[in-house]
Amino acid sequence: MRKIIEKEFALNYLNKYGSQMTVGNGYLGVRGALEEEYPEQVRGMYVAGIYNRPSGSVSSELVNLPDVTRFQVMLDGEVFSMQAGKVHAYERFLDMDMGELVRKITWESSAGKKYQLNFHRFISKAVKHVIAAKVEITPLNDRMKVKVKTGIDAQQTNFGTQQLAESSLRIFDEELMVGEYETIESKQRITVATKVNEKGIFTAKNRQLMTEVEQEVAVNETFTLEKISMVTSSLDEVDMEFPKVSYADLKTASETVWADFWEHAGVRVESMNEFDQFALDFACYHLEIMTPKDDFRCSVGAKGLTGEGYKGHIFWDTEIFIMPFFLYNQPGIAKQLLQYRYLHLKEAKEKAVKNGYNGALYPWESAFSGEEETPEFAAINIRTGTRQKVASAISEHHLVADIAYAVCEYESATGDAQFMADCGAELLLETAEFWISRATNRNGRLEILDVIGPDEYTEHIDNNTYTNYMAHYNVKKALEWNKDNKTFVAQAEKFLENLYLPVENEAGLIPQDDTFLQKDWINLDKYKAAQGTQGILLDYSRQEVNELQILKQADLVMLFYLFPKMFAPEVVKKNLDYYEKRTIHDSSLSKAIHAIVENQTGNRAQAYQFFQEACLIDLGSEPHSSDDGLHAASLGAIWLAVVFGFAGIDTSAELLEIAPNLPDAWQSVAFEFVWQGETIAVKIAPNTLQLSKNTKSVLELVIYGEKQQLTDTLTINLEQKDVSL
Ligand code: BGC
Repeated sequence: MRKIIEKEFALNYLNKYGSQMTVGNGYLGVRGALEEEYPEQVRGMYVAGIYNRPSGSVSSELVNLPDVTRFQVMLDGEVFSMQAGKVHAYERFLDMDMGELVRKITWESSAGKKYQLNFHRFISKAVKHVIAAKVEITPLNDRMKVKVKTGIDAQQTNFGTQQLAESSLRIFDEELMVGEYETIESKQRITVATKVNEKGIFTAKNRQLMTEVEQEVAVNETFTLEKISMVTSSLDEVDMEFPKVSYADLKTASETVWADFWEHAGVRVESMNEFDQFALDFACYHLEIMTPKDDFRCSVGAKGLTGEGYKGHIFWDTEIFIMPFFLYNQPGIAKQLLQYRYLHLKEAKEKAVKNGYNGALYPWESAFSGEEETPEFAAINIRTGTRQKVASAISEHHLVADIAYAVCEYESATGDAQFMADCGAELLLETAEFWISRATNRNGRLEILDVIGPDEYTEHIDNNTYTNYMAHYNVKKALEWNKDNKTFVAQAEKFLENLYLPVENEAGLIPQDDTFLQKDWINLDKYKAAQGTQGILLDYSRQEVNELQILKQADLVMLFYLFPKMFAPEVVKKNLDYYEKRTIHDSSLSKAIHAIVENQTGNRAQAYQFFQEACLIDLGSEPHSSDDGLHAASLGAIWLAVVFGFAGIDTSAELLEIAPNLPDAWQSVAFEFVWQGETIAVKIAPNTLQLSKNTKSVLELVIYGEKQQLTDTLTINLEQKDVSL
């Protein structure tokens, strides 16, 4: 069973497990908060696309919705809490096979009475609106009087900001509790309906619609309370009927859908380190529950639906780090993520105009409206009272080309001509027009000035190599898809001919930007040891960091990852070594990408170490690192590291290429990969590479540089290959 396990209850891990143990289905996400209250515990339920902009703020926030997971349990007059009495046995796990969260506690009250309490919860994968919960309590040494209070609690806020107005509270048929709410600014309507399977006394007070069930239970008998809830919103097109089935029935239906997911999207690794398989399962589970399945008005936030970090905003994380998992498993979902961007072409064009450019300038951070959502300022310096401006909205423009890159990636993996005709070609055209207007003619060549590249520790620089190459690719691809547009063709050809593309200097180094290589270097060991914490900013101001050779995350190395054939292997190696020494990996988007490029240069040991470190970003032992949600892009990147790193898949040419190079610790890896409508089962063991598919059509591909044909099964003996570079 794929399981995330919490062995003991510890208050300072409460919110980290709360994020890790989120249950969901891409429509709904419910944090793994415990049923009873603890002062620091962050409860959270989110619906994809439900944002609200609080008054006085420039950014929308993913709304923390009224809660249905809280159960106040009174046992013989004492409130159940693991901070009181004595916990004799404790076990909590999230069964990722079917997304069920389970907790089992043997508890002794301060009066010396013992009870067994079991809590269960899941979100249906079959009916996306449904949350099911079950509480079982057994008195172990005496009869008990149990009281359980639960319902719909609209006292939930986004860390104190109330986003919802209560519109109506009702009880139907003496059993169904229904609360209706409206987001204050965005005017989205939310309906939460819930019912328990025992009669209770209803109350409605202080934004809480509750029922309280009371029972006397004999020793060793079990009191069971099932609670089924349904969440709908004004984004839903059809009215839903409240399910009339039990927890067990809902679970069976959901399990079947989960089983199908794991059968096709799961990755199996035989490794000397069991943790590798666990981390991969964790990544696949969360990627699946963070991504909307049937609504292109929504995309994936930087924390998925696991918390309120980054206010639920959507970044380049989605197209570059998360989308590939879907593109090569469930391409329809990748398409939907691109349709989200197409839907907001209008807002992107408006942003371009506002900033004095042509074409489409996508917002650095986006939410439901498609407008720019990046906060104007970062956290306040409480000593000086000043706030650092966030420059990304005005200068971090690579996202435009990242989206275009994802369109091309989708097209080459699927050959979906209809999508290109409906959205893709236009998206490429508009993004290319942005770049054409964004470039400046300086001494006869086109340059892209005053940008922020992926490395956000270096701001306001000219000719960020990543950005320039990505812009070039964007325009080149737009040209291929818009050959009939004469005006554009002329402009695009001129741009492609004149855009400055930095290359390596005499020392073999490609400059990250115009001034990077002239800056001073400092020893980063201390900061690398505490990567992810941005500790450098405690010792140096942003301005000082900007003037040093310090990278927050992969920048040029990102380019090497996205275009594995663009630079000569020795150039990649030299620059990888140079830039890695200067990279703190303070962003979670960095490590796994470095792992991939290390593997490509033959540095397998380093690659594996980076991969393992990337797996610890959300699964490491630091207590608070993921409190406000998981790092969605880094979960995507764990999958990328296996498929594009160790398994050596390369989709950058017309034919699919594969040249695996597994870590020494791995015996085998197996996964499915969807390419041009064919599902290819890939199995790599130390001495063999086996590819198979269920159709008889001939698929040409390149294996370790040699053209091969795959009909149904192809087995390559790797002993005869020299896989070391
Ligand atoms: C990173 C960005 C990323 C964002 C959201 C930032 O810290 O520098 O690259 O898009 O987090 O994950």
